[in-house]
Amino acid sequence: MTKEQNLERRESNRSQQPSNGAFREFIGSDWGERPPGPERAAVADYLPARHAKLSERFPGVRLVLPAGGYKVRNNDCDYRFRAHSAFAHMTGLGGELEPDAVLVLDPVEGGHEATLYFHPRASRSSEEFYADSRYGEFWVGARPSLAEMAALTGLRCDSIDRLDDALAKDLGQGHVGLAVVPQTDAGVEAKAEELRRRAGLAEGAAQADAELERALSEIRLVKDEWEIGQMREAVDATREGFDAIIASLSRATGHRRGERVVEGAFGAKAREEGNGTGYDTIAASGNHANTLHWIDNDGPVAPGDLILVDAGVELDSLYTADITRTLPVSGAFTDDQAAVYQAVLDAADRAFEKAQEPGCRFVDVHNAAMEVIAERLESWGLLPGTAAQSLAPGGGYHRRWMPHGTSHHLGIDVHDCAQARREMYVEAELEPGMVFTIEPGLYFREDDLKVPERLRGIGVRIEDDIVVTADGAERISEGIPRTIAGVEEWMAAIAGR
Ligand code: GLY
Ligand code: MN
Ligand code: MN
Repeated sequence: MTKEQNLERRESNRSQQPSNGAFREFIGSDWGERPPGPERAAVADYLPARHAKLSERFPGVRLVLPAGGYKVRNNDCDYRFRAHSAFAHMTGLGGELEPDAVLVLDPVEGGHEATLYFHPRASRSSEEFYADSRYGEFWVGARPSLAEMAALTGLRCDSIDRLDDALAKDLGQGHVGLAVVPQTDAGVEAKAEELRRRAGLAEGAAQADAELERALSEIRLVKDEWEIGQMREAVDATREGFDAIIASLSRATGHRRGERVVEGAFGAKAREEGNGTGYDTIAASGNHANTLHWIDNDGPVAPGDLILVDAGVELDSLYTADITRTLPVSGAFTDDQAAVYQAVLDAADRAFEKAQEPGCRFVDVHNAAMEVIAERLESWGLLPGTAAQSLAPGGGYHRRWMPHGTSHHLGIDVHDCAQARREMYVEAELEPGMVFTIEPGLYFREDDLKVPERLRGIGVRIEDDIVVTADGAERISEGIPRTIAGVEEWMAAIAGR
């Protein structure tokens, strides 16, 4: 059963759509002119270079990048659609556009030719126009025509109905191979599998698909100018979200689930300014900050707490920021909170200095932060030996209080480029155009008997977004206050509005 039939069936017990010819003519007539189609998107100019990076790795191989489809949430309700990240990167189409579309890079003389296959808008005289809840204009609005999509993306476009023929063409002849991004669209994958079996290409198919997936991750390690612009916009929108969080704190302290008030304040801004949040917001007050992935956000916010908020706005293009700020709910840090906060800030600053050094590798950024964390823990008498011993192989004691990594690449995915090989990611030297986080933390759980009582229950993380430049690195989240004085002034300014 096809997906479309499936969708039809799940509504059939409730639908009473007339389908006689007279009705169809009646509903399809007397509509005004359509507005002009979309203009060429700015990202369109960057797509050929992105395609070329992929093309050079796969000579003679037909490359298939599905957008993916809807995922059922329950019964006949789906989750909001989000395109597969590689598809979004290679087409510039993010947001809610084009479930079930497929980008094909077809091997031609000297490289590849890109074609975007999708379901174009049907005419108003079609039954689809009014009766199809999946594609119909009455249901989901006027979708683009082939010409409109071509104008928007600068890509050659064709109907999804012609995809199967395009995938099959010359397969196995003249050494034309086929690779498809795995686990994205089960229907396309099954079709590719069948075609490869028939063409005698089944052996090595899984490896070809895995290589394609890895390549798509690796070519995103260095962002182009347009992508860097998107990252800056995402960070700017996130700053607005944090302003809204601070403004929400007085209401949060009076609510039994104050963390939800904070989450909601950020989420409203993220939806207003972008596609939404790039990942589930962490709003963790008091001891909840010591649970690294605290997303329940159902606790109270007490006036004496620190609240750790890890949140990022994802734009319509799907590029997301990833920012953490740890805020004193009362507007001022206590001495103990400030001591922990300053240690984390110093670790972040040391890591950022390291990132600006020529020849710095990704892993060096983490190691620089760990040096500060271990030194500070030693000075507080928490380590069983010295900081040097803890940092040496076979040590690692400081990791009791900072168990996560300091950095990850950031872009369309919050943990971007996750399939990249180790030598291109953690062990690689930083290159201009790379975007990553610096996010050290210290987490003193309230039941941690190795920690002095005065520090128990304090959890701090400070997370900033970094772009590597030709002569160093830039903290693009510099505009979101992060020093002790800066945070207190920021909070006072918003409280005084
Ligand atoms: N918010 C997820 C992370 O910081 O990695
Ligand atoms: Mn992060
Ligand atoms: Mn984060």
